[in-house]
Amino acid sequence: MNVNDFAKYKLKKRKISMITCYDHYSAKIIAATDIDCILVGDSAAMVMHGYDSTIGATSDMMATHVMAVSKGAPDKFIISDMPFLAVRKDKAHAMKCVGALIRAGANAVKIEGVSGHEKIISHIIGSGIPVMGHLGLTPQSVNGLGGYKVQGGSDAARDAIMRDAEKLEKLGAFSIVLECVPAVLAGDISKNLNIPVIGIGAGPKTDGQVLVLQDMLGLTGEFKPKFLRKYLDGSAIFKAAIENYHKDVVSGSFPDESESYE
Ligand code: KIV
Repeated sequence: MNVNDFAKYKLKKRKISMITCYDHYSAKIIAATDIDCILVGDSAAMVMHGYDSTIGATSDMMATHVMAVSKGAPDKFIISDMPFLAVRKDKAHAMKCVGALIRAGANAVKIEGVSGHEKIISHIIGSGIPVMGHLGLTPQSVNGLGGYKVQGGSDAARDAIMRDAEKLEKLGAFSIVLECVPAVLAGDISKNLNIPVIGIGAGPKTDGQVLVLQDMLGLTGEFKPKFLRKYLDGSAIFKAAIENYHKDVVSGSFPDESESYE
């Protein structure tokens, strides 16, 4: 898949599958699947580094994860999040960050929100770097939003998200992630735009879906928002394997002869 395929898939009504990835071995596994594209999300700050929000992500942290993922999945289209405030300082700061992410192997960057950083988005796109938008629940603004809540509940909020989506399309974004909004609103936005809308917690009517890898593999313990489908009970499987290893070490049954050098 390349950047032009996003609009083509939308025209053909072929849904787009996106999954997050932050590390090399997971990237190799994803590379061997039919998943359409990979998001190196700033959720890496929470999933890989234990922060309680995505605000902990930095440009160095993102570039390190992008590099590991792009070496593991060199043929997948890779989108990297721009970290907290990267587009809210000045153009030079934003371009330094974009440069680091693209040099690390990203094919595109994802930017949360649009109001106030339209010029920077235009400049990035004008520099030949594809931009994916991100509207609805924008986790970098968790403090301003008053928590992780479904967005677009009121008529005014609904209209604002619709206007922002139209603005992003006009600016030249190739796709938009829409997070935690009512399914009807997500359906309306998807219908209204020519670029594909990729949903998370946005119902079935978007042009594609994205999930965090560790969430859908059931590695994130009790975390089970309404929108999440777990495809594996990864925590239980990991725990059982680690317990078995512990038992084998303590009992002396690991390693055996076949696992030892002569
Ligand atoms: O950082 C991330 O994982 C994301 C997805 C939730 C869309 O932005």
